[in-house]
Amino acid sequence: MNILLIGSGGREHALARAIADSPSVGMLYALPGNPGILKTFQHVNIKVEDFNSICKFCKQNSIDLVVVGPEQPLADGLADRLILEGINVFGPISAAAKLESSKDFAKAMMLKFKIPTAGYRTFTVSQHDVAHQYIDGHSLPIVLKADGLAAGKGVIIAENHYDAHIALDEMFSGLFGNAGNRVVIEEFLRGEEASIFAICDGKDYFLTPASQDHKRQFDNDEGKNTGGMGAFAPAPIATDSVLRKVEERVIKPLLAGLQKEGTPFVGCLYCGLMIDKDEPSVVEFNVRFGDPETQAVLELLDGDFAKLLYTAATGKIDKNTVKVLENTFSTCVVLASGGYPDDYEKGFEIIGIEKAVNNGANVYHAGTKSESGKIFTNGGRVLGVTAKGNSLAESIANAYDAVSHIGFYKMIYRKDIGFKGLKYF
Ligand code: AMP
Ligand code: GLY
Repeated sequence: MNILLIGSGGREHALARAIADSPSVGMLYALPGNPGILKTFQHVNIKVEDFNSICKFCKQNSIDLVVVGPEQPLADGLADRLILEGINVFGPISAAAKLESSKDFAKAMMLKFKIPTAGYRTFTVSQHDVAHQYIDGHSLPIVLKADGLAAGKGVIIAENHYDAHIALDEMFSGLFGNAGNRVVIEEFLRGEEASIFAICDGKDYFLTPASQDHKRQFDNDEGKNTGGMGAFAPAPIATDSVLRKVEERVIKPLLAGLQKEGTPFVGCLYCGLMIDKDEPSVVEFNVRFGDPETQAVLELLDGDFAKLLYTAATGKIDKNTVKVLENTFSTCVVLASGGYPDDYEKGFEIIGIEKAVNNGANVYHAGTKSESGKIFTNGGRVLGVTAKGNSLAESIANAYDAVSHIGFYKMIYRKDIGFKGLKYF
């Protein structure tokens, strides 16, 4: 089976590792990939927006499956186009990708299919005055979300009404571009967050172990929101009872509903949950694997991952192609450039990756570049150092042990990844 992987981040490197380790694969191509991915995949020099050339490449190189990592090409209709050309793709069509590209659409679907989520209302720019009135009568804190894709930055949690009014004006005046033409105003949910991925074929699904991201910049969940500073899996907060509730109240009704609407969901359904006293509510849906949760989660799967994605993409998922490792935990610590998520410098040499790998860790590249056989920093999130263990504590210790071998100028990372899971043991 020949595979084309789209994307260039840490998530895609983790996908690439799991795909390359699959017995069923043949030629592997990455568009564009990164220095970690390109150790086992061949680079494809086509722009991701150039759907014509992607289709042509797939036909010329007998691609059996295209795996799409990021959300933007899915929102832009890459899967629709590939399907039209008879090419198998793991990733939803744009009408189903709206679960991520429009918060209002996601909320409307949740309301329609009775999926537990925060109460909300959506306002357009022309409803400016009503939206401000709505804020005045809203309980605190108030959550405001720009409707469209905003690279994870379009959510503001206002602790008082004044801040909510300011945030609304900012969104309507274009702080998040067109994404803020509509704004969802919703209730604040209390509890602890977890991420659950369902690999879907449109009707049926395979549930991977639950994970927890660490979105804040600093230890103890302080500082700014980032793309994610680390993750661990399985997340003990997602007890068996929580997982069953998520399947019965979220995944099954959503898949059945979307199928009925004529827009079946094929791909990775990311359920971002708030869990309070064993009761899950949906905070958000994403239509692709999470980053950095994927780096932790895929460590726990054994078998033919590529075949799992292929059977999902072709309409009948074969859940027996992979199994979840028992009594195994995984932790991913993100190494970032000093200053991230604000301004940071790049171009610094990274040392010690080999040593960390020889120590048993997987070091996933996120923002790196390769020059004359050396690896340099090239982004905010640079590497995802990931290690397993027979307990959560052991996987955390192994991950930080691997981190201790790696260095680059102004390297920063959180020292408490996974700690929030330890209280359950
Ligand atoms: P989203 O982009 O929808 O995932 O939101 C980003 C982050 O904002 C989430 O991961 C939560 O930490 C937080 N958040 C979003 N919506 C809510 C909500 N209704 N209640 C509490 N926190 C929320
Ligand atoms: N880890 C959060 C996300 O992938 O959206």
